[in-house]
Amino acid sequence: MDFEKYYSDRQKLINNFLEKRLQKKGISRVDEAMAYSLFAGGKRIRPILLMATADAVGANGYNFLSVAAGLEMIHTYSLIHDDLPCMDDDDYRRGKYTNHKVFGEAMALLAGDGLLTLAFEVMLEQKNVPPEVLVEVVREVAMCAGNFGMVGGQALDLDAEGKQISEAELRKLHSGKTGAMFIAAVRGGAHLAGATSDQLLALTHFADLLGLAFQITDDILDVEGDPAEMGKSAGSDEKKHKSTYVSLYTLAGAKALAEKTVAEALECLDSFGEKAEPLRRITKMMCGRKS
Ligand code: IPE
Ligand code: IPE
Ligand code: MG
Ligand code: MG
Ligand code: MG
Repeated sequence: MDFEKYYSDRQKLINNFLEKRLQKKGISRVDEAMAYSLFAGGKRIRPILLMATADAVGANGYNFLSVAAGLEMIHTYSLIHDDLPCMDDDDYRRGKYTNHKVFGEAMALLAGDGLLTLAFEVMLEQKNVPPEVLVEVVREVAMCAGNFGMVGGQALDLDAEGKQISEAELRKLHSGKTGAMFIAAVRGGAHLAGATSDQLLALTHFADLLGLAFQITDDILDVEGDPAEMGKSAGSDEKKHKSTYVSLYTLAGAKALAEKTVAEALECLDSFGEKAEPLRRITKMMCGRKS
């Protein structure tokens, strides 16, 4: 399959959708701050993951663009807040100055709040899905984004600064801050596409492993990535004395673990056949990615 085209077609579709949706302006200049980060670039991996999972289950991922776009809004909010001086204190994101560098801390905070809230409005606008299915999907997204998921993981990440934590603690931290939104994307796509309970189980396991491989790779990139390619600064984790897979296992150990995790994630897709090829390609993209 022409995976590059598969991926870039979906990126374009998501970007067009987000652009159209953000044309509905609110009552203040917070709109500008929200759009600044949302359209700064970004791989759009979570919405594409939702669509590719729906494809793997036999539906057409293109039909679930509202829910997919909502995930990208939540993710972008999490990045704006993650970069704030009280969090990771970073100056660059998606190849540009971070939101607070341009709009100030208070406006960046509100831009994050605005995106998080708008995400739920947009997800609930999803057409052609039975209401009870949409409610369940959005409920799961909320759970994955909140204190049981991403927000909880971000809190563990802050608490682990300057400490040596155990492997189990680091796994929990990563599962929260990154894994949960991958689970939201994959389970969301699966539910919307009408997956069976066996399929849901396999895909949940897949998403957990994929999220882990993704964050291990992010930790590796923070050490040896090229800031120009990543669009964000390198060395941020060391500067903040973060607990990462590199700090726990060394660079070589982290790379080996990322490869093993990718292989395990791929095994979860064994029963899905040809339709899961985009999901497999996304998974293989994890190791060795440059951004
Ligand atoms: C960065 O996410 C934050 C992590 C959870 C590691 P991405 O690497 O998906 O960032 P963008 O969306 O492409 O900018
Ligand atoms: C952040 O993890 C995960 C989020 C929930 C935003 P990182 O702090 O490692 O992400 P980067 O490296 O700044 O993108
Ligand atoms: Mg962080
Ligand atoms: Mg950060
Ligand atoms: Mg990082």
